[in-house]
Amino acid sequence: MYAAVVLVVFACLTDTIHADHHQPCHPPNMTGVMTVITMKGEIKAVGAFTYDSMGKKLRFRSNDSHPTNTSVGLDLLMFFEQGVFYEIDSKNQTCEKKKLDMDLNPLDIPDDAKFHSTITAGSRSIEGEGLKVNIWTGSIPNMKGYYSVSVTMGCLPVSVLYFSESAPMLFSNMEVDLEIKDPDLLLVPSFCLGQPLEESPEGTVNSFIHEFM
Ligand SMILES: *[C@@H]1O[C@H](CO)[C@@H](O)[C@H](O)[C@H]1NC(C)=O
Ligand SMILES: *[C@@H]1O[C@H](CO)[C@@H](O)[C@H](O)[C@H]1NC(C)=O
Ligand SMILES: *[C@@H]1O[C@H](CO)[C@@H](O)[C@H](O)[C@H]1NC(C)=O
Ligand SMILES: *[C@@H]1O[C@H](CO)[C@@H](O)[C@H](O)[C@H]1NC(C)=O
Repeated sequence: MYAAVVLVVFACLTDTIHADHHQPCHPPNMTGVMTVITMKGEIKAVGAFTYDSMGKKLRFRSNDSHPTNTSVGLDLLMFFEQGVFYEIDSKNQTCEKKKLDMDLNPLDIPDDAKFHSTITAGSRSIEGEGLKVNIWTGSIPNMKGYYSVSVTMGCLPVSVLYFSESAPMLFSNMEVDLEIKDPDLLLVPSFCLGQPLEESPEGTVNSFIHEFM
């Protein structure tokens, strides 16, 4: 009898643990700062992002006045759901519209991601000195690589590592707020409306991470 009760309790416990990790969570609407670093240690870009989690829309604008030396100046408006994105040049009021060949969204966890582990950055035992994150992993289709996403317990993405032979890259987020401060940033600028889809040269792959390669 006792053994059976223990077994049931244990089964329930493991069930809850499994239930927790069974389905990847999806981050909320956010505004924050994103840094893009190659695994060779080069900081490619630092910029502000705005993310609509339902519409899967992302605006990323690199900040050229940031004190870090960066090599890529970019203003991107990504529509992951529609599979298109815009490269925007606000100064010249021009833009290019391109098809997304790969759905690599650095602010979401793919539905088929596998739960890997929960770790604590900093200290697990000192109150307020640790950041507990869940790590989810999966493979990157067509790139012979894998990704590893870490999110806080409230599903805020801390970092995502895209590991491939060609160009391992780390996207890391900070100063995240749970709101869209300027919804206009997620609208196609008027000077981009009616823009035809750019023909990419044969062999070109377009994705958010390829913009930084
Ligand atoms: C997220 O932002 C979009 C676009 O501004 C808005 O339509 C949506 O209601 C927001 N969702 C939440 C949960 O606030
Ligand atoms: C760009 O970086 C500078 C220096 O860190 C900061 O003061 C400024 O607010 C940033 N601008 C944007 C739009 O994030
Ligand atoms: C940034 O780049 C410039 C020009 O390449 C260089 O002179 C400067 O030392 C760099 N600054 C830092 C902090 O690396
Ligand atoms: C703006 O357009 C001019 C002329 O086409 C070009 O020379 C310049 O490089 C462009 N500026 C930017 C920031 O792309």
